[in-house]
Amino acid sequence: MDKIFERIQPEPFRIKTVTPIKMLTSEERKAIIQAVHYNVFKIKSEDIFIDLITDSGTTAMSDNQWSAMMKGDESYASASSWFKLEASLKDIFGYNYVLPAHQGRGAENILFTTMIKKGQTVPNNMHFSPDRVTASGGIMANLIIEEGKDLQNEHPFKGNINIEKLLALIEKVGADHIPFIMITVTCNNAGGQPVSMENIRAVRAVADKYKLPVILDAARIAENAQFIKMREAGYGNKSIKEIIRETCSYSDGCVASSKKDGMVNIGGFVGINDEKLYEIMQSYCLMWEGYLTYGGMAGRDLEALAVGYQEGIDEHYLQYRIGQSQYLAQKLQEENVPIALPAGGHGVWIDSKKFCPHIPPEEYPGIAITTALYIEGGIRGCELGNLAFSKRNEETGEILQLPEVDLVRLALPRRVYTSRHLDYIAAVAGEVYRNNQKLEGFKVKKYATIKYRTLFLGQMEPVEKALSNSPESKIKQVAD
Ligand code: F0G
Repeated sequence: MDKIFERIQPEPFRIKTVTPIKMLTSEERKAIIQAVHYNVFKIKSEDIFIDLITDSGTTAMSDNQWSAMMKGDESYASASSWFKLEASLKDIFGYNYVLPAHQGRGAENILFTTMIKKGQTVPNNMHFSPDRVTASGGIMANLIIEEGKDLQNEHPFKGNINIEKLLALIEKVGADHIPFIMITVTCNNAGGQPVSMENIRAVRAVADKYKLPVILDAARIAENAQFIKMREAGYGNKSIKEIIRETCSYSDGCVASSKKDGMVNIGGFVGINDEKLYEIMQSYCLMWEGYLTYGGMAGRDLEALAVGYQEGIDEHYLQYRIGQSQYLAQKLQEENVPIALPAGGHGVWIDSKKFCPHIPPEEYPGIAITTALYIEGGIRGCELGNLAFSKRNEETGEILQLPEVDLVRLALPRRVYTSRHLDYIAAVAGEVYRNNQKLEGFKVKKYATIKYRTLFLGQMEPVEKALSNSPESKIKQVAD
């Protein structure tokens, strides 16, 4: 029985409430995507058949979470719901102090403002947002191992930090100019790839040597723990909670978007061991997020999250969860769709360059793919490549430097889609790929003025064919 369960990995839940989704014709979808200038963020969700734009805040909640929400205590201060959440967070993460935030970026704002001084460098495997560290005056350093940048390398922990590079960086800038070392588990921008316990321990050793704190970006720490359980020697028989506790024990604090492994639609928190830092953070929490016992969440959100984190560390659920992206990856491979391997924890990433070798990088092959997936099958993916991450002239919007990899993410919301949906996604992507020669490049019609916001706010249009005569880029890629 157990073997069959492990092989098939059936959804470990029954469906009680559903949202009907409607199927438009591809002609209708063509008109819709044209009307929103090929920016998939602007497509009304009711016009989407399968929404893979993010796994953040898109979770289906359980009946236990919904019933807990009825008990939401909406008192402004010291609501009973907060104490349930606080106990749940301390139970799983083990930090001395926790502060609520409305979502991950709120938590980051509190911690970064408290800990980063202007001009300091913050090392990480890969920072998720190019915005927030820099907004706090910091300089980002992405130190992921080389294997993590190679889309075909099957290294089991492609999210690991390169310890030599970390040491070299500290020697170069000086420990005084580093507020903390950060580790993002799993590493979202490297395709949801995990970080091994061995690597986390090695980072801790470096931190101890230079007396630096370690801060986790813990948005997907449960998925990371499941990878450790599956792939790292000595962890097969440990519980997810034990693995998370051990992970956190090598850190001094964390920022977390609870919209991922917290199994809720909104929420986040800061965890911290140091009392003094906690005191400073309290003021910032009050100033930006709200009183210390709600931090931008309603009482019912606190209840949903207290239950959600406990569900998010359930082993059967996590096995199914990681199994889902592996299943989608396998189906996409059967359709010959070029993807990053191995599959990440929260989805599958399409290799845009290989998918559209005939489209030059500065004509955004990823936008050609997201457009075609929508028109062909009503699927919304997310370009996380040349449009999202190129360095641009902020006035003209002209690309100065392309990112190292050009990807389209198919992120899987938690407990939302069944394996039949995944079969459908793979079949649509396969059909689009078989006809990839029909895909054409895009140019940005209207730039959003600040940084990478063109992904969210910009407008695109197809390139006139005559302009698109060479698949080679004239723009150099980002060196590391
Ligand atoms: N850290 C990581 C690793 C994330 O993936 C995200 C959000 C955040 C921090 C910020 O959290 O959105 O709650 O403020 N990732 C989403 C995504 C948006 O689609 O990957 P937030």
